[in-house]
Formats: sequence, C-alpha cells, structure tokens
Amino acid sequence: MEKLDLRLAAAAEFVKEGTVAADIGTDHGYLICHLVNEGICKRGFATDINIKPLESAKALIKELELEDKIETILTDGLAGLPEDEIDEILICGMGGETIIGILEKAKWVKSEMVHLVLQPMSRADMLRRWLCENGWNIDDEKAVEVEKHLYTVMSASYIGGSETPDEFYCLTGELAGQYDEYAVKYLRWQANIQRGIASGLLRSEKEKEHALKHIQLADMLDEQADETEAEI
Ligand SMILES: C[S@@+](CC[C@H](N)C(=O)[O-])C[C@H]1O[C@@H](n2cnc3c(N)ncnc32)[C@H](O)[C@@H]1O
Repeated sequence: MEKLDLRLAAAAEFVKEGTVAADIGTDHGYLICHLVNEGICKRGFATDINIKPLESAKALIKELELEDKIETILTDGLAGLPEDEIDEILICGMGGETIIGILEKAKWVKSEMVHLVLQPMSRADMLRRWLCENGWNIDDEKAVEVEKHLYTVMSASYIGGSETPDEFYCLTGELAGQYDEYAVKYLRWQANIQRGIASGLLRSEKEKEHALKHIQLADMLDEQADETEAEI
C-alpha cells in the first residue's frame, strides 16, 4: 500500500494500538486500511455518506485482502455504527463545522472509552471551542503543511464537564509552545489571519475596538512564535 500523505500519517500516529476504529468520511480508505494493515487497529469500519468514495474504499480493502477486518458502511456520520464495538473515531479531511455536526448527533461518543482523532480542513478554532465546552480534552495536536496550507491534527479524550477556552487557546490549541517548525508556522499563519481580519474591520470607525482585539491576538501569536523559535 502507498505511504500515507503527511496529514493522514499524522492522524495515524495518534491512533491507539489495539483499538477498533471507525474512519468517518473514509473516501479512498487509505487511513483505515493503513491502520488495520499495519496491525495498529484490530478491526475497523470505513464509512462514507457517498457511494462513490465508499466503492473506492471497498476496492482498496479487497486489494489488501482486509474484507474480514474492515466493514464498509454507507451512512451519514456515525449513524447506525455499532457503538459498543468502536473505541477510536477518526474524522479527517472535513470542515470543523461538519465534524462538530457529526459528533453532536452521536451522543454515545461522549464516553471515556472513546478516543477521537480529528483533522479539520477549516474552522479548527470552532472545533477546539466545541470540544472544550462539551467535555473533551485536547490531549495533543500536530501541525502539518500540505501544499502551502497548514492544518492541525487533534487527539482528544472525553473527561466530562465543560470548559470555556479563551480566544488564544481556540486559535492555537496544543500547538502553542510546541518546539516544532510547523507548529510555529501555524502560529504565524494564525497571526496573519488575525491581522487580515483587523485590517478589514479598521475600514469602519465603529469596528475599531473589535479590530484592536484581533491585533492584540495577532501580537500574542507572534510573541509565542518568537519565544518558541528562539528555543528551537
Ligand atoms: C475530503 S474527503 C476526506 C477523505 C479522508 N478522510 C481524508 O482525510 O483524506 C471527505 C469525505 O467525507 C465524506 N463525507 C462528507 N460528509 C460526511 C458525513 N456527514 N458522513 C460521512 N461522510 C461524509 C465525503 O463523501 C468524502 O468522501
């Protein structure tokens, strides 16, 4: 089987050994096939809301002779999956809002027995906030750069309760302070986004205060990046 791309390889690194994983929105099936083929996961479920991607996952599963270990399911998110069998949920390559929508509809995932590996393509800030407010602890993150875009991959465990994260945490999560080139790049990229938002807002006098909040966040992000870079 071909090597995973950087994004999926980072996701695979967070998967706990010996688990039964559900790869939601599997598309080509690369991630779940890698995990089962390498013996990281005992078994798995490959799901997709669309038949065409599921067919391509099925073809890869067949090619690798993993039919007895990976079941394919055509479904929306986690609907209809065997809750008592799954302890690892992987949702990669979707927008943060879609990931939240999928998790929100499946109350059973709120369990200490379930571990999440999430890789949002957008709105990582919104996803971090939602996770913290809904009892999830973000254990770790890894930044990856793919075709000049920076993405984060998150590992999260359910601890219950509800935390209200600050804006800085929502923007950086567990990447702030990580001695890693791509984590620092991620902070700088976030700082640029904040400056862009601020410059848009500054066109209107009544949004000045709002703009200053974004400038302050950008400064904090750059400061954190400077401090970490000095230590690398
Ligand atoms: C961009 S692909 C990502 C594929 C793979 N997970 C990755 O990260 O490379 C997104 C896939 O998610 C599927 N998808 C989108 N919304 C979904 C949902 N609510 N439930 C299941 N699959 C979904 C799409 O059909 C598509 O195959």
